[in-house]
Amino acid sequence: MSTEAGKTVIRPLSAPITGSTRVPGDKSISHRAVLFSAMAEGTSQISGILDSADVRSSIRAVEALGAKASLEKQPDGSLAGGITGWGERGPVQPDEPIDCGNSGTTARLLMGVLAPWPVNVTITGDDSLQKRPMRRITAPLMKMGVRFSPEGKENLPITVTGTKSLKAIVYDAPMASAQLKTSILLAGVYASGTTTVNEPSESRNHTELMLPEYGIKTTAAARTASVVGPSVPKAAEVIVPGDPSSAAFLVCAALLKRGSSIQIENVSLNTARIGFTRTLERMGADIAVRHTGSEGKEPYGVIEAAYTGTLRGCEVPAEKIASIVDEVPVLALVAAHARGVTVFRDVSELRVKETDRLAAIVEGLDLLGVDAWIDGNDLFIEGQPDLAAQPGSVFDSKCDHRLAMTWALVGLCGSVPIEVENFDSVKISYPEFLDDIERLTR
Ligand code: S3P
Repeated sequence: MSTEAGKTVIRPLSAPITGSTRVPGDKSISHRAVLFSAMAEGTSQISGILDSADVRSSIRAVEALGAKASLEKQPDGSLAGGITGWGERGPVQPDEPIDCGNSGTTARLLMGVLAPWPVNVTITGDDSLQKRPMRRITAPLMKMGVRFSPEGKENLPITVTGTKSLKAIVYDAPMASAQLKTSILLAGVYASGTTTVNEPSESRNHTELMLPEYGIKTTAAARTASVVGPSVPKAAEVIVPGDPSSAAFLVCAALLKRGSSIQIENVSLNTARIGFTRTLERMGADIAVRHTGSEGKEPYGVIEAAYTGTLRGCEVPAEKIASIVDEVPVLALVAAHARGVTVFRDVSELRVKETDRLAAIVEGLDLLGVDAWIDGNDLFIEGQPDLAAQPGSVFDSKCDHRLAMTWALVGLCGSVPIEVENFDSVKISYPEFLDDIERLTR
């Protein structure tokens, strides 16, 4: 790898990807472990925490609000240690705005965390985060009694003013978003009565699985989750399994690189997260999932994948998109290598991720000479089984970690070097991505 003027040259892997590996801790569970522990009374012990720029944003945020984090780097690269929360005393008034960097999860969940407290906290973020929609979070929290200024503003910076007299609500969410669901439920922890979020389709359920560990009365069923408040969360122990969204990049690399065969151990097998394995199975991929245990209520196990010469297009229905929402870019790259057309139905949420991922997928696949188009909110990809990149093609990550890794696979699994602009955005979720994949070729 070499980087010049923000462009990183990605060369073909020298050998197939083989052997067993682990991936860093799950990003969603790591954020929640940090934030829920900060809300709790007492000292929580958390381990397997992802050490990445996004999770560091959550750690810095809770420290600015008065939680004490003593997390240390472990030999496997994860963070582990204690977080002493503010419990019933509540957070302190920070001196400055809280900068959430690139992390939508930090910014949106923080609004729910701050909802029950009489503080004025300005939340901001980097250029990408300042473009992302926030009204989806502020509108329901306002119904609960929280004030935001400027009122009704869509983008950060926004100042949150919480209240000790929060109202419990029943909220029919307009989109399946775990960030939205979590923000409302976290506010609901301190509201009197039952706060319920109903969703149009199932989003990831880590919050519902973890809150009971912190002593919060929580109920959940398909497309609905509730908490009963008011209640002070109690310190807990959390062990974070590997991130399936990071594993997806190694799995797709193995499918595309001739001769490869890998096992990824200790990865979360939460069904709301491993939709990509089912999509790949339907494309004819050589992939298998094996449960080996549970951490709290989170199942984990092994994902195995091997090179698959013949892949076929498939259709992913709208109600399954939430279970692959972060994997659509890399699945689109696999679909570009498959025979026939792949359709992802209603992927409108991709437009409001770290960048407009829908437009970026079409642009990147076009550079590869693949026909991909958007019709309404559906994404279509006409695959080419003998797809090959032009040497020196320059793919733009748009400073989006998942796009950076997706386009890196073009170079790693292909036969000519390519370049990826702003590849260093992998630091958001998987800083060691290139090292990990290269280690599997030795
Ligand atoms: C996340 C939820 C998803 C996902 C994001 C992490 C979470 O976002 O894309 O990477 O941890 O709750 P939405 O809830 O906006 O779909």
